[in-house]
Amino acid sequence: MADLHDRWVMERRNEHYYKLAKKLHYRSRASFKLIQIDDRFNIFGPGDSVVDLGACPGGWLQVAQERTWPNGRVIGVDLRYIKPLEGVETFVGDITEDSTMMELLRRFGGKADVVLSDMAPNIAGHYSTDHARSIDLCMYAVDVCDRILKKEGKLVMKVFMGDMFPSLERELQKRFQSVKVHSPDASRPTSSEVYVICKGYLAKTRVKVKDVKPKEEKPEFTAKGGVF
Ligand SMILES: C[S@@+](CC[C@H](N)C(=O)[O-])C[C@H]1O[C@@H](n2cnc3c(N)ncnc32)[C@H](O)[C@@H]1O
Repeated sequence: MADLHDRWVMERRNEHYYKLAKKLHYRSRASFKLIQIDDRFNIFGPGDSVVDLGACPGGWLQVAQERTWPNGRVIGVDLRYIKPLEGVETFVGDITEDSTMMELLRRFGGKADVVLSDMAPNIAGHYSTDHARSIDLCMYAVDVCDRILKKEGKLVMKVFMGDMFPSLERELQKRFQSVKVHSPDASRPTSSEVYVICKGYLAKTRVKVKDVKPKEEKPEFTAKGGVF
């Protein structure tokens, strides 16, 4: 009975955000997750420069653009083509490829105030596989921070919760003054996704990504670069 009720609540909530996204011309329901995160954690400021990883279809890009207005700068990258959004730069690339990382650095040509990552792996439906892949993507986002984030900068990143989370959290704690885990109301209640809100980038720690990759027994998720 409780299950049925939970499902009903979840469907109503999904429908609510879906309709609201349409009404407010956001490209995805995910926009509301970032809005709720920003309202609570005060991520953006006017004039901020923002890098959005896994940005397609562009809901977060829209929110980042609105909330850094005026003079903000927003750039997004995704495996998939992002329909043009006026005033926002986007390109197609796989952030796990060195060439994409180089392209990002070339296009951005400076330091960012905020790095966003809503990247999600292709869902295998196998809990520990999806978790490991999510952690792997997160470590690439951390690598982007190490290359592009300003001192005192912020990172908002999605992760699928699981047993490797504590080691990711430790890496984040080495780099940021504050690391908080949050689940916005707009997230599906049944989802294992949470958002990590990191503030106060220390800009000194340079830990090779390959040193903090998931455990040996999952070599298929080993990062390519490391990179410094
Ligand atoms: C949940 S969607 C992002 C939604 C987006 N934040 C929005 O508001 O519209 C996750 C995205 O991560 C992208 N992604 C997954 N792995 C990636 C990778 N290695 N490099 C770049 N993008 C990736 C997927 O293609 C997908 O579009």
